[in-house]
Amino acid sequence: MILNLKHCRVLVALALGLIASGAHAVPGEQQTPEATFRTTPPWVDPHAQAAVEPHRPLYETRAIHDQNGTGKFYMGREIAQVMGPGGIPWLDRPERDDQEKPSIVLDALKLRGGETVVDLGAGSGYFTFRIAPRVGRAGKVLAVEIQDEMLQAIRQRAQALKVTNVEAVKGSETDPNLPAKAVDLVLMVDVYHELAYPFEVMTKIREALKPGGRVVFVEYRKEDPDVPIKLVHKMSVEQVKREMKAVGLAHLQTLETLPLQHILVFEKPQ
Ligand SMILES: C[S@@+](CC[C@H](N)C(=O)[O-])C[C@H]1O[C@@H](n2cnc3c(N)ncnc32)[C@H](O)[C@@H]1O
Repeated sequence: MILNLKHCRVLVALALGLIASGAHAVPGEQQTPEATFRTTPPWVDPHAQAAVEPHRPLYETRAIHDQNGTGKFYMGREIAQVMGPGGIPWLDRPERDDQEKPSIVLDALKLRGGETVVDLGAGSGYFTFRIAPRVGRAGKVLAVEIQDEMLQAIRQRAQALKVTNVEAVKGSETDPNLPAKAVDLVLMVDVYHELAYPFEVMTKIREALKPGGRVVFVEYRKEDPDVPIKLVHKMSVEQVKREMKAVGLAHLQTLETLPLQHILVFEKPQ
């Protein structure tokens, strides 16, 4: 085949694009947990690891991907970019109550006084401070975040509202820093799809749950093209179920009682 000047320009542009897409790789890629994961650190359940895809790396970086994604894929789906503190006004927008009906989520949790609840990826605490009165003084809410600005917003809010049963916890991308076998319920609202290391975080969460403890996800419906949210920020029921099976969490129920989001409930087997 004879290549003319136009063809050559296209080929050079494609090659440059592929090189540039390497910018999505984490700096010091060889040192990242997924690299060491292949040597199976002690906290990884080998049964769960095998359930993901035996003998293959957990994560894959692709050059061609959604512009709102990270280019990093887990079990066939692209991990979304993390919402920064610039998103706080959106998380706390006054119309959110009307659009997302948080009271339906809170009722679905069936919380009891004295329980320890984790609001993982708590943001500025939109759900944290709605959960706190439901577990009462004998209970507590651990609001886990990786971003200092979010933790600061939560601490300020706790102080302003004189709420004493909320604790802000700094997590890392791979470890939410939770006590072992001490948690009754973990709630993740609009968070799971942006975890950079979903397998590692969910494995840690399973360790933190009491036997019979629950994990509840609230995720925008990927199955519904009319839900006005960017694609990588949505999750399908089938995908969440597949990913939880990989970490040994059992599906209890899926509720479709919210206007835009699924409520998915899982349990740590007894
Ligand atoms: C879209 S916000 C949702 C905040 C809150 N759940 C709400 O509904 O208002 C997602 C949050 O998850 C946090 N996040 C992302 N990865 C995390 C991780 N590995 N551990 C803890 N928080 C994380 C982000 O910092 C961000 O604040």
